[in-house]
Amino acid sequence: MYQLIYISKSVLYFSKQDLDKLAAKSSVSNQNLGITGMLMYIDGEFMQLLEGNKSDVEQLMHQIHQDERHYSLNIIKEEYLEQREFSNWAMATQLMTKSHLKLFLPEEHIDEPVGLPSLVNKTNHRDLINSLFIRVRDNLLLPRSYIQ
Ligand SMILES: Cc1cc2nc3c(=O)[nH]c(=O)nc-3n(C[C@H](O)[C@H](O)[C@H](O)COP(=O)(O)O)c2cc1C
Repeated sequence: MYQLIYISKSVLYFSKQDLDKLAAKSSVSNQNLGITGMLMYIDGEFMQLLEGNKSDVEQLMHQIHQDERHYSLNIIKEEYLEQREFSNWAMATQLMTKSHLKLFLPEEHIDEPVGLPSLVNKTNHRDLINSLFIRVRDNLLLPRSYIQ
């Protein structure tokens, strides 16, 4: 199982409605490709986790890369895992604020200014971002049965 996380900046502001619309469409095509994951939107920036067969994820990334609704796409983590972390979601979404983000980071980071840019600059940002995805999954997402 191949998992990838990237960040990018949105060209225009995305409302909850815009995000839901994108997720609804993405869920259908991801389900067809056997891809699962989650898309977060935090203060004008996207952060998306995708998992599935490497070639399928790469094919989807190629499409996503060309999407003109965002720019400055940077892959921040690539990993092979035994199991999916988002097996119940073809594409979960979560609109986050900076204070929201703070709530889901490990305690030692609570006093620091957080936003995606400062998070990504940290030396241990890969682990931090991974734990952020897991905490949001376990606390905010409603399971939608998908891959058994
Ligand atoms: C931040 C972001 C995340 C996206 N995530 C997905 C995704 O997970 N799955 C997907 O099929 N399309 C996703 N898209 C949309 C694709 O970039 C692209 O619009 C779509 O796959 C093309 O579909 P179409 O050419 O058939 O209309 C995403 C777009 C953006 C801006």
